[in-house]
Amino acid sequence: MISPAPPGPPGPAARAPAAAPPLVALAGVTRVYGSGPAAMWALRGVDLTLRQGEFVAVMGPSGSGKSTCMNILGCLDTPTAGSYRFAGVDVGTLSRDQRAYLRRDSLGFVFQGFNLLARTSALENVELPLIYRGLQAAERHERARGALAAVGLTGWEDHTPAELSGGQQQRVAIARAIVTRPAMLLADEPTGNLDSARGHEIMALLTGFNRDQGLTIVMVTHEADIAAYADRVVRFMDGRVEADGAGGSA
Ligand SMILES: Nc1ncnc2c1ncn2[C@@H]1O[C@H](COP(=O)(O)OP(=O)(O)OP(=O)(O)O)[C@@H](O)[C@H]1O
Ligand SMILES: [Mg+2]
Repeated sequence: MISPAPPGPPGPAARAPAAAPPLVALAGVTRVYGSGPAAMWALRGVDLTLRQGEFVAVMGPSGSGKSTCMNILGCLDTPTAGSYRFAGVDVGTLSRDQRAYLRRDSLGFVFQGFNLLARTSALENVELPLIYRGLQAAERHERARGALAAVGLTGWEDHTPAELSGGQQQRVAIARAIVTRPAMLLADEPTGNLDSARGHEIMALLTGFNRDQGLTIVMVTHEADIAAYADRVVRFMDGRVEADGAGGSA
């Protein structure tokens, strides 16, 4: 049996149907942890549509479901009920392997804690997702160097995370996330461990990738001045989207 091709990012306009589907469409998404009296409703019915090229900040109190929603968007978790369509593909119908391909080929991740491999050079950290894609060494090196250059880390390729500042480590993590040219970047509190100046440097980078390469970005933050970089702010409250509107301009 021929298995269907893994869904990639939206194809060129020529191949897209007249009305291209939104990049992301969550409909009635719930996520319940546990069951019975101990059931914990992390998401209570989330409807959310994102267009390609948007830069969205996700805000809301601790425990309101932001990370749970990000995990679902990132295909790291699946809804208890409701649907998630990515570029028109119903993620709920995909096998575990197909979801892994979708993650590998279309999504990039950045976390608060950088999550780099210790005792591994910046270049090797950035090359890792390209190894999973089966790229040859020469092309991996070239693309990883290009990604590190794009985050302002030319000359730091051979340094390990312990030899880099927090801001530099997060730049390496961003290079690792964009080296595969994903359609969507998911960033959960990317500036949460950084001082304000370093945080704004990271935001300048993300804004540049959004504007210049059309990278769709979904970013969780607790800080209003960080959310102000996004063009749209979605606010969670008790597992629901409480508000959804235009962002500020920083
Ligand atoms: N694996 C889990 N098992 C049980 N409950 C969970 C699990 N993960 C999250 N929860 C619960 O689901 C709710 C939403 O959690 P979530 O991590 O999405 O919140 P958040 O908005 O990201 O909060 P924060 O701002 O603190 O990161 C919380 O009440 C949390 O305790
Ligand atoms: Mg969280």
